Amino acid sequence: MDFQKPFDLSGKVALVTGSSRGIGASIARMLAGHGAQVIVSSRKQDACEAIVAQIKSEGGQAEAIACHIGDMESITNLFQQIRERFGRLDILVNNAAANPYFGPILDTTLEAYQKTVDVNIRGYFFASVEGGRLMKEKGGGAIVNVASINAENPGVYQGIYSVTKAAIVSMTKAFAKECAAYKIRVNALLPGATDTKFAATLVKNEKILNQLMPHVPLQRVAQPDEMAGAVLYLVSPAASYTTGSCLTVDGGYLIG
Ligand SMILES: NC(=O)c1ccc[n+]([C@@H]2O[C@H](COP(=O)([O-])OP(=O)(O)OC[C@H]3O[C@@H](n4cnc5c(N)ncnc54)[C@H](OP(=O)(O)O)[C@@H]3O)[C@@H](O)[C@H]2O)c1
Repeated sequence: MDFQKPFDLSGKVALVTGSSRGIGASIARMLAGHGAQVIVSSRKQDACEAIVAQIKSEGGQAEAIACHIGDMESITNLFQQIRERFGRLDILVNNAAANPYFGPILDTTLEAYQKTVDVNIRGYFFASVEGGRLMKEKGGGAIVNVASINAENPGVYQGIYSVTKAAIVSMTKAFAKECAAYKIRVNALLPGATDTKFAATLVKNEKILNQLMPHVPLQRVAQPDEMAGAVLYLVSPAASYTTGSCLTVDGGYLIG
């Protein structure tokens, strides 16, 4: 362990899905800030290019490759491009998720169910398969799956979303157990309520916020940047003995 640089990611290639804004953009900037060459990805190439420009202005290295993580062909194409352009992948952060339906679980439509499952379970799973294969070829790597506190405590009116986030925790442990043999570490981040577009229904609604805050010891929602340090730790040399774990960053919410 280098005690001077325990979080150094120099020479590493990192893919962050859903990194054109919110938590993913903060993670991409943080990894680039510690020396990784970051692939910024989301459905919109233009939005990714804007984060790439920001990372470069901060002195980091980044490239944009668009990918719809709920579309299998798009995932195959993304990893084909990574193979051709970089020839390796050391870090994968599965962050792009869908939550198209906020409402009673008994009114869940098949369409909302399918979209949530396709992005949050199938997308995370096959990105991990493709990323894991690349890491195995080069002797190891680190995967972080962005789940949610909803994995542990399902949110009211967030039924199918919460189910997929619990599946991501299980997926994290399954990949961690098998892929340790290839020196691939796999961990999960469980964010609490964070001020992003994704969570606007919650964090911009005063009534919901007033109901939530008594349950959050730190008495506020998080800013996206406050998630990035946890991911940096999990993918860095400092976490070399950490795999299969879930790191909760929720202002104390899950204490109960
Ligand atoms: N915010 C919270 O309170 C909170 C709490 C717990 C967990 N989380 C988790 O944190 C992660 C990031 O959420 P966020 O709050 O940062 O959301 P956000 O600000 O809305 O950002 C979502 C990002 O994902 C991209 N994206 C959406 N659907 C995609 C798809 N099908 N394929 C590829 N990219 C896609 C978006 O860009 P494009 O539109 O360009 O595709 C964007 O870059 C998610 O896994 C979410 O479940 C968030």
